[in-house]
Amino acid sequence: MTIAYLNGSFLPLSEARVSVLDRGFLFADGVYEVIPVYGGRPFHLQQHLLRLERSLSAILLDNPKSADDWSAMIERLLALGKGGDQMLYIQVTRGASEGRSHALPAQPRPTVLAFCQPLPQMPDSVRTQGVGAITLPDTRWRHCDVKSIALLGNVLLANQALNVGCNEALLTRDGHLTEGASSNVFVVRDDVISTPPNGKELLPGITRDLILKLAQQVGLQTCERPIATEELAVADEIWISSSTRELYAVTQLDGQAIGNQQPGPLWQKVYDAFQVFKQQYATQS
Ligand code: PDD
Repeated sequence: MTIAYLNGSFLPLSEARVSVLDRGFLFADGVYEVIPVYGGRPFHLQQHLLRLERSLSAILLDNPKSADDWSAMIERLLALGKGGDQMLYIQVTRGASEGRSHALPAQPRPTVLAFCQPLPQMPDSVRTQGVGAITLPDTRWRHCDVKSIALLGNVLLANQALNVGCNEALLTRDGHLTEGASSNVFVVRDDVISTPPNGKELLPGITRDLILKLAQQVGLQTCERPIATEELAVADEIWISSSTRELYAVTQLDGQAIGNQQPGPLWQKVYDAFQVFKQQYATQS
């Protein structure tokens, strides 16, 4: 039985209920976080809570909890859970009002939901062969730095990729790469790892930051810069990163091989560094 946290109570997830007037349901008026949990410890919790704070501020909603209250709730939720590597989901919406109105309520009563589910493990085939991806025009709104629960754009784009047997859609806007439908993207050429700069066109990924840091620590050159769409096809390596995928190598793009269609040497180096970092974190007391 999976336990959820909902508005102050811990209860079975299957019994958690919110009003049909919740603005999350009516307007997708809310934000969320996905936090990996390794060895029972939420990974980069402070960074995720900071990004949640920024998303809430962007949608003009006060944070319903202090950082200490978030930490305490999460600790209790994890203690009530099954253990093992988990994906912790947190969602805050503007809650229910009297009826349906675009006008923001003067005194919102936010809905706070959190629950865990097992973190998907990277399949062996992904480790050895990488994944396929397609490029698609980025049709989403212009506030992609906000981790909004309004994910229909991302969902439809991701499913275009899934429908042709690919793992991810790499999105382009005005001739340059933004991000994946649910990941950040790295492009390697001539031993330099490049990724688009943070801004309104992409989510400031927590995994992205860690990958940049680890790459630098193992002596690789990184660069945050706009990446033209044409650079993708001629890349030596392409990677995608997220809290649930960690770091995948994209070895086929739009049906064409990237590099020699195997996860590349730089991916291997940074992936290995990630595993070491994660292992050390999971076993720290
Ligand atoms: N998504 N860009 C988008 C659009 C994302 O949805 C995600 C993650 C990322 C990577 O961010 P991070 O490294 O902080 O997880 C980038 C999560 C996992 C999700 O929606 O399930």
